[in-house]
Amino acid sequence: MDEFVARYGPWALIAGASEGIGAAFARALAQRGVHLALVARRGERLEALEREIAGLAPVQVRRIALDLARADAATRLEREASDLDVGLVVYNAALAPAGAFLEIPLDEQLAAIDVNVRGPLAMAHRFGERLAARGSGGIVLLSSLTAFQGSPFVTTYGATKSFLLSLSEGLWYELAPRGVDVLCVLAGATRTPNYLRQRAEGGAPGELEPEQVAREALAKLGRAPSMIPGRFNRFASQLLRRVLPRRAAIRLMGAQTRRMSLD
Ligand SMILES: NC(=O)c1ccc[n+]([C@@H]2O[C@H](COP(=O)([O-])OP(=O)(O)OC[C@H]3O[C@@H](n4cnc5c(N)ncnc54)[C@H](OP(=O)(O)O)[C@@H]3O)[C@@H](O)[C@H]2O)c1
Repeated sequence: MDEFVARYGPWALIAGASEGIGAAFARALAQRGVHLALVARRGERLEALEREIAGLAPVQVRRIALDLARADAATRLEREASDLDVGLVVYNAALAPAGAFLEIPLDEQLAAIDVNVRGPLAMAHRFGERLAARGSGGIVLLSSLTAFQGSPFVTTYGATKSFLLSLSEGLWYELAPRGVDVLCVLAGATRTPNYLRQRAEGGAPGELEPEQVAREALAKLGRAPSMIPGRFNRFASQLLRRVLPRRAAIRLMGAQTRRMSLD
C-alpha cells in the first residue's frame, strides 16, 4: 500500500470523477491513502462524492468543477493543481454520441474529439512533463473495447478510443525510462449511470461493476501498457481480434451497438 502511495501519490487527479468508473477510481484510491483532485462539470455531484469519501478514508479532496471540452481545460487544471504533488492522472471522461453517423450533428461529434482526444492528449502532455520531472508517477487513460475495430453507431466515439489506445501504448514506451507508468484501460460494458441510461434491454454479456474496473486497472498499473477488465471481456476481445475475420467482427459490434443506441 505504502509502495503504491510512494509511487503514485500523494495526490491523484481524476478527470471525470463524479460518477461511474471515475468515482470508483476515487474510492479505490482513497482507500489506498491517496489524496484526490476530482474534476467534473457537476459541482454538486463532486460534493456528494467528497462526503462519501470522508466516510471511507482520511484523505484530502479538492473539487474542481470544469468542462473538459474547453480548449484550455488542461491549462486550467494544471493551474488548479499547481500546489499539489500529483503522482497519478486518470482521464476518465468521455462523450459518446450514439446513432447513425450522418444523423449526429457534426458539432456533437467534434465535441467528442474535444473531450475524448484533445483533453487526454493535453493532460498527458502537461502532467506527463510534471511526472517525468518528479521521476515517478502514472497516467491512466480510459478507452473501450470499441478501440479494436470499427464500431458502427458509435463510430466517432470508437475512433477516439482507438486513438487513446495508440496514444497510451506509445507513451508507455516513451515515459517508462522517465519513471512514469502509462496504462490504457479498455473497458467493456460497465454498469455506470451513463451506460444504464443507454443500455439495451437485457443488457450486454459480461457487464461489470465500476468498482471491478477500477480495482483491476490499478492492479495492472506499472505492469502492462494496456489491459481489459473482466474475464469475459478478455475472451470476447480475443475472439473479435484473433478468430473472427475483421468484417465479421465489425458486423458483430454493429449488431450490438445498433440495439444499444437506436432502439
Ligand atoms: N460504461 C461503460 O459501459 C463503458 C464501456 C467502455 C468504456 N467506457 C469508458 O469509461 C469511461 C467512463 O465511462 P462512464 O460510463 O463512467 O461515464 P462517462 O459519462 O463517460 O463519464 C462520467 C464522468 O465524466 C464526467 N464528464 C463527462 N463529460 C465531462 C466533461 N465534458 N467535462 C468534465 N467532466 C465530464 C461526468 O461528470 P459530469 O457529468 O458531472 O461532468 C462523470 O463524472 C469513459 O471514458 C468511457 O468511454 C465506459
